[in-house]
Amino acid sequence: MNTQSTIKNADGKLGVLIPGIGAVSTTLMAGVFAARKGLGQPIGSLTQMGKIRLGKRTEDRNPDIKDFVPLASMDDIVFGGWDIYTDNTYDAAMHAGVLDKNLLYSIKDEMSAIQPMRAVFDPAYVKNIHGENVKNEKTKMDSAKALMADIQKFKTENKCSRLVVVWCASTEIYIEENETHSSIENFEKALEENHPSIAPSMIYAYAALKSGVPFINGAPNLTIDIPAIVELAKENNIPIAGKDFKTGQTLMKTILGPGLKTRLLGIDGWFSTNILGNRDGEVLDDAGAFKTKEVSKLSVLDSILEPEKYPDLYKDMYHKVRINYYPPKGDDKESWDNIDIFGWLGYKMQIKVNFLCKDSILAAPVVLDLVLFMDLAQRADMKGIQEWLSFYFKSPQTKDGLHPIHDIFLQKIKLENTLRHLMGEDLITHLGLDYYEEE
Ligand SMILES: NC(=O)c1ccc[n+]([C@@H]2O[C@H](COP(=O)([O-])OP(=O)(O)OC[C@H]3O[C@@H](n4cnc5c(N)ncnc54)[C@H](O)[C@@H]3O)[C@@H](O)[C@H]2O)c1
Repeated sequence: MNTQSTIKNADGKLGVLIPGIGAVSTTLMAGVFAARKGLGQPIGSLTQMGKIRLGKRTEDRNPDIKDFVPLASMDDIVFGGWDIYTDNTYDAAMHAGVLDKNLLYSIKDEMSAIQPMRAVFDPAYVKNIHGENVKNEKTKMDSAKALMADIQKFKTENKCSRLVVVWCASTEIYIEENETHSSIENFEKALEENHPSIAPSMIYAYAALKSGVPFINGAPNLTIDIPAIVELAKENNIPIAGKDFKTGQTLMKTILGPGLKTRLLGIDGWFSTNILGNRDGEVLDDAGAFKTKEVSKLSVLDSILEPEKYPDLYKDMYHKVRINYYPPKGDDKESWDNIDIFGWLGYKMQIKVNFLCKDSILAAPVVLDLVLFMDLAQRADMKGIQEWLSFYFKSPQTKDGLHPIHDIFLQKIKLENTLRHLMGEDLITHLGLDYYEEE
């Protein structure tokens, strides 16, 4: 990892290439275009609105993060992407129905100029959707090469100095890691042989890394969480990060869970249910895709509560997550959490959370931050899994043998300390003993 003096500068255009021109990606793009025109603020984004404390509390140094670390400017971002539908991003945003039509109309020129490239798609991995804008290569390796050609062409045509790829496409069916994923050699052989354990998202990831481009996985798919891809990222000195953007109900879980645990309140059960009606919901209506999402959502509480260390409080906790496709809701997801907790002498209490959230509104700033931080990581020579970006994921990817940290407050400390370290500032542990000295 480099520090301050050796981080390459952020000059020139940053190309952001996105498989999946759907609700999340079009909300991100529209937000960036709107913010550039002063039509809205990038609320929820740490890179645009966050501050970071430096030094001792008495020093009162709290710069904006974007002034502290050398990030690409939102003005220098150029968007592109792939989708199985031919809709340009303006039409796709209209279809997604997240943003107000008048707002979209005021950025129509920028949005309609972005036309999705032909996708690498296979209906065996994503059920319930069908589109014509797909590549038709003979082998999965040929598809990877076609994506590499797209990436190179986009970079040249848009005069980008750097690129980042972020997967915002549909959730794929659940795939178990196996031998084909165990090394670069096996993975490449499987690409040549069209092996079924290589999902389209893995082909995009491979193409990005072979092109020297960082890759972010916003869905719960296995994608880059396999030794072959981790090895490739390290070998080519490229950062990767995943998986599954932390928004909505899981965001609430990682806020509430650590709070209850910190006060040593016990939990008998946590029942979470959702209704949503967007295309993501339609895809998740398929049992295979739901299983992928369910695994991602369920892992969160165990890791926060550590039932093995606190058996009296969490050993018998019943945790259930349901997702129900309900078209009238559109992108306005509604979630209910019923949390049965117990306190002093085992006396029972309940917490009910009813979150009427807009999924893509919560996801857009996450994607923006990830893209800008991953570009920073690349310029700072940080390769492989970027665990300091766990803050943004439901299932943070970690090095082999390490447990992910799900507690959002610990994740934030790790992210901020990474930035401090990069810039040669003292790390802050918040552990200073202020009755001896000022922290
Ligand atoms: N919205 C959130 O808050 C949130 C949170 C966490 C994760 N996610 C994940 O982000 C992804 C995007 O969510 P969304 O709401 O934008 O979904 P969406 O259905 O609106 O958009 C996904 C798009 O991906 C396209 N697609 C599917 N397979 C493709 C492929 N192989 N190549 C290119 N395009 C492909 C679809 O045609 C669709 O247009 C989903 O996987 C979702 O689970 C979303």
